[in-house]
Amino acid sequence: MKYDFDRVISRTESDSAKWNLKPLYGNEDVIPMWVADMDFPIARPITEALRKRTEHEFYGYSYTRTSLLEAVVSRMQKKYSWKIEPEWVVFTPGVIPALNVAIRAFTHPGDEVILQDPVYHPFWSTVEQNGCRTVANPMLLNHGRYQFNLDDLEKKFSGREGMRSASRIKLMILCNPHNPVGRVWTTQELTTVGKTIISHDAVMISDEIHCELLYKGQQHVPFASISREFEQNSVVCQGDSKTFNLAGVPASTIIIPNAKLRHAFNNTRSGILPQPDIFGMVALEAAYREGDEWLAQVLGYLQHNLDFTLAFFKERIPRLTVIKPEGTYLVWLDCRNLGLDNMALRAFFREKARVGFDDGYIFGPSGAGFQRMNIACPRALLEEALKRIESAVNHL
Ligand SMILES: Cc1ncc(COP(=O)(O)O)c(C=O)c1O
Repeated sequence: MKYDFDRVISRTESDSAKWNLKPLYGNEDVIPMWVADMDFPIARPITEALRKRTEHEFYGYSYTRTSLLEAVVSRMQKKYSWKIEPEWVVFTPGVIPALNVAIRAFTHPGDEVILQDPVYHPFWSTVEQNGCRTVANPMLLNHGRYQFNLDDLEKKFSGREGMRSASRIKLMILCNPHNPVGRVWTTQELTTVGKTIISHDAVMISDEIHCELLYKGQQHVPFASISREFEQNSVVCQGDSKTFNLAGVPASTIIIPNAKLRHAFNNTRSGILPQPDIFGMVALEAAYREGDEWLAQVLGYLQHNLDFTLAFFKERIPRLTVIKPEGTYLVWLDCRNLGLDNMALRAFFREKARVGFDDGYIFGPSGAGFQRMNIACPRALLEEALKRIESAVNHL
């Protein structure tokens, strides 16, 4: 069927965190383009599956169906030619809860975790909440494209400027595709960074929640699919919440091929982090089995939104520079030219442009002077937001 993503559907009465405008901004005349969910209705087969399940009026304790595991196994094979075993798959109600469990399971208090800077902001607090320290590995920005900083990574392991004797780095949390900078890391890049991590006996947690949201010509490579060695030293986090816009019925797919790591994860979660609920599981299976027609249309729409955004900034708001994303519907906007500090930049976008972005500095020290904008909305809203920014910049 053909979906109409141009239609603006009000979400203000639907418990949407994104559209809770008054508490967020103090007024309702702000276009919210922050948290990563899409202003598009979900795939019809998912709605149908949920409806069918709600009509069976028993919501008791549930188990994981074999057919759901099969759907996950066959999606990994179909999308990435990655053969996984059903027993490697663990389901959680969200990726962030899984990251919390993984940190507790694989570290001791006081250990260190490498994060790229900038990166999805809850990574920083998640590490610290679990008694570990974050070690920032700032990325390099070369000609508008972010890259891993391998020299810095190696230095972090060997002890910064002689300040530490032995590294306590036990994990790296990788974001691929990267939120907020939009990179889809290549096999070569992943191989180099992975070898460094593994050679220092650290484990890679690869957050791949945005892995199916790719622009033309891009291919996602699950970290663990690269080699048997990578498979045995990593945890891959995927799921339906970004791709199929299901963050409110969370069911994440955490793939842990190494039995020792998987048992540690399961022991740590026991009694604390439950399985996703029935609706999360039903939605996930419907998404993986029947959501692809919808997804193809969403990806086409996002590509147009991105092309429109890139052209608009280039032609009409050249003082701001867009870091062109390869994946995700999140656009990283370099606003350093405006010469505003973090608080002034925040006020400028919220009060003068009347658009609700995420402030770059929350993603780490290297995010200062940037803003993150979510372009997964009907074109009319996107165009209105861009016009507001153009007018505000012209009046600065
Ligand atoms: C990279 C990344 N990881 C995790 C999450 C949140 O995942 P969940 O809602 O499944 O906990 C997001 C949400 O935007 C994200 O961008």
